[in-house]
Amino acid sequence: MTAPDAAMQGSITLIGGGPGDIDLLTLRAVERLRTADVVLYDDLAGDEILSFANPDAELIAVGKRAGHPSPKQQEVSRLMIGYARLGKRVVRVKSGDPSIFSRADEEISAAREASVPIEIVPGITTATAAAAYLGTSLTKRGVARRVQMITGHDVDGKLPENLDLSALADRGATTCVFMGKATFASLADKLIAHGLSGDTPTVVVESLGSPATAVMAGTLKEIAARLATAKPAGPCMILYGEALAGLHRDEE
Ligand SMILES: C[S@@+](CC[C@H](N)C(=O)[O-])C[C@H]1O[C@@H](n2cnc3c(N)ncnc32)[C@H](O)[C@@H]1O
Repeated sequence: MTAPDAAMQGSITLIGGGPGDIDLLTLRAVERLRTADVVLYDDLAGDEILSFANPDAELIAVGKRAGHPSPKQQEVSRLMIGYARLGKRVVRVKSGDPSIFSRADEEISAAREASVPIEIVPGITTATAAAAYLGTSLTKRGVARRVQMITGHDVDGKLPENLDLSALADRGATTCVFMGKATFASLADKLIAHGLSGDTPTVVVESLGSPATAVMAGTLKEIAARLATAKPAGPCMILYGEALAGLHRDEE
């Protein structure tokens, strides 16, 4: 990168890459990829999405590829702003929807502080894509009147300590747990201690949008025990609540 030129105005666009199936990308996301000068992408965004990128665009991996640690969030923001200040149209591809557990807030703040225009193109979050894959609805009249999305790990990779367990043990809600496969057993223990039945229907959808998609379905207790031993390698969306009743089967 060379010195910034105040006369050149670049931009940053955060696009939601959806769950991995490229036909679930929005037309706007495809259009931004086609006109990008620089594309920053990470592991979960999926390589196929990059086939839509302008062939002359510079493609920069910012995820944990090939065993290398991922660049720190500040470094990603610095890169995006640096390129935008060179007049480049920078596209940052996020998995699912950028507004959900993607640290988009930090990138938006960094762009605003640097006075770089930033646009957000929404995508289909893995939570709703998982429901679609399962052929079910996350809400159900009279059964599930509320949907909540939580992260199963804090900055140390542990189960967050300040979870609202009363809300999470609400029988009338469907809960979508992101980044929760390693901590689900301890979450399940806490939920049961807060009154949620160990028989609550629970489903894990692993590696959605890829040929390796796998489904594990059972009760809260069963799935907690199985995740603790099976240790799935791919990203997992865990859904629990009465809306998931009837999905007591596994699928690969
Ligand atoms: C950093 S969060 C990103 C969430 C994303 N912004 C969204 O809206 O889906 C990563 C977590 O999302 C879920 N996830 C992302 N891609 C997935 C996929 N292809 N299959 C299953 N879960 C996925 C997993 O829970 C994973 O640990």
